[in-house]
Amino acid sequence: MNRDGNTTSFWQATTAAENSQSATEFAPQHFDTIIVGAGITGVTLAKELQNRGQKCLLIEKENVGFGTTGGTTAHINNFFDSSYDEVISDFGEYGAKTLASAAKDTIKYIKSNIIKYHISCEYNECSSFLFSAEEKQNDQLEKIFDSHQKVGIETVKVHNIPFSIPFENAIEIKGQAQFHPLRYINKLIKEFEREGGTIVSETQVTDFENRDGKVKVLTNSDHYFSANNLVWATHIPPGNNRFSVLLAPYRSYALTAKLDNPVAQMAQTADLFDPYHYVRYHKSNDDYFIIVGGFDHMTGDDGDTEQHFTDLTAYLDEHFKYNNIVAKWSSQYYVPADGLAYIGQMPGENNIYISTGYNGNGMTFGSMAALIIPDLMEGKTTPLSNLLSPARIKPVASARNVISEVFNATTHFVKDKFSAEKLKDLDLIAAGEGKIIKHDGDTIAAYRDMKSKLHLLSPVCPHTGCNVVWNPSEVTWDCPCHGSRFSIDGSLLNGPAMSDLKKIDQE
Ligand code: FES
Repeated sequence: MNRDGNTTSFWQATTAAENSQSATEFAPQHFDTIIVGAGITGVTLAKELQNRGQKCLLIEKENVGFGTTGGTTAHINNFFDSSYDEVISDFGEYGAKTLASAAKDTIKYIKSNIIKYHISCEYNECSSFLFSAEEKQNDQLEKIFDSHQKVGIETVKVHNIPFSIPFENAIEIKGQAQFHPLRYINKLIKEFEREGGTIVSETQVTDFENRDGKVKVLTNSDHYFSANNLVWATHIPPGNNRFSVLLAPYRSYALTAKLDNPVAQMAQTADLFDPYHYVRYHKSNDDYFIIVGGFDHMTGDDGDTEQHFTDLTAYLDEHFKYNNIVAKWSSQYYVPADGLAYIGQMPGENNIYISTGYNGNGMTFGSMAALIIPDLMEGKTTPLSNLLSPARIKPVASARNVISEVFNATTHFVKDKFSAEKLKDLDLIAAGEGKIIKHDGDTIAAYRDMKSKLHLLSPVCPHTGCNVVWNPSEVTWDCPCHGSRFSIDGSLLNGPAMSDLKKIDQE
């Protein structure tokens, strides 16, 4: 099973690749809904729409779980990176209660799928422990605790946590869950196909048009499909739209270590640093594991990505006894401008839908999309769909984040254009090294592989023209402006770009 980078996630390492069909095996045909992207959002939504009687096509550029779902740490929570005190402040108490209720419903929904389809995905329910690690975080924790009482998230103060991390104060948030995300979506896909759904993989959408209430999608194999509705389950929707500004791409780092002994209590925990560290136990057959994550940064903002794994390993060593590290990987997520996901109709396009901006809560928001979008397609709006509407305008809440993220993208756009290293001799690029260089008047993204072969590309991202930067851990070119990512041969790994980096002829 492939992922969008060089590292292998714990989930990817423990799941067999599924057979896939390419678009060439299907004659052009019309569907009720086409969903692009077979991560948790696309797969859950495809199954839910099918259950409501729709004929659906799921199109995946690579394989199921290729993107962030293959790289998540798979926490299923009824609280979010935007804490409920922040949601109350920005969206009001009614909005926060609406979100809390939907989050609880989403966990029930995931569980109901697991029961209904007999999904063996190492699911378990547990508590999550949030703690302050220094005095200045105590107030923040108290505010979170108070807001949970207001919105009805069952939370108590505790004196102990089931993790060997020192803390000042701690709260236990009950009713959380966790699972093996790829086993979950793989089984949903099987059920979707068994009941007549169509999935095509290794198929890239290269163009689309929306005319007279019908959407036509063109693929890289020159096949086209049409539908009444289109859903982009691909993070930032393609093209240059407002979501390029309202979402900021981040990288997070994770590793899994095998434990020598069973844990007394399955649980999750997180601190209140920025970026925060997050930890959870996982049980697979009779083996116990610990999964730790953190050391996040904006995509493209830190060239020394290996250092983040070093820091994460040091964090693991400092706090936990373990046998050996079995997986380490990084993954991309998107931070929304006002703190909440955007799930619903694309503004101005009443038959195109998006679901994005999950922050670090992709399993919950990705599944929640199935509780919102099918209703919208049936003409039903709810307080939840209004709250998460992509058309919402929250100027006060979003202003501070939008300004800083746009500033960051603009800074990259300008700075990266002038920061290429002048290099007369391409032989000076060492094996395993990737860098943006100026050579004979051209700016080039150059990488030499471990067999000494040189790969030369234009660094200009086809989305809106920022220069990509090198990610040595994932051996990819990442765009710092909106998070498009490319392999060493220029192939597109993640949008919002819709095409590859241009190759440069070495001659
Ligand atoms: Fe927008 Fe690269 S992703 S310019």
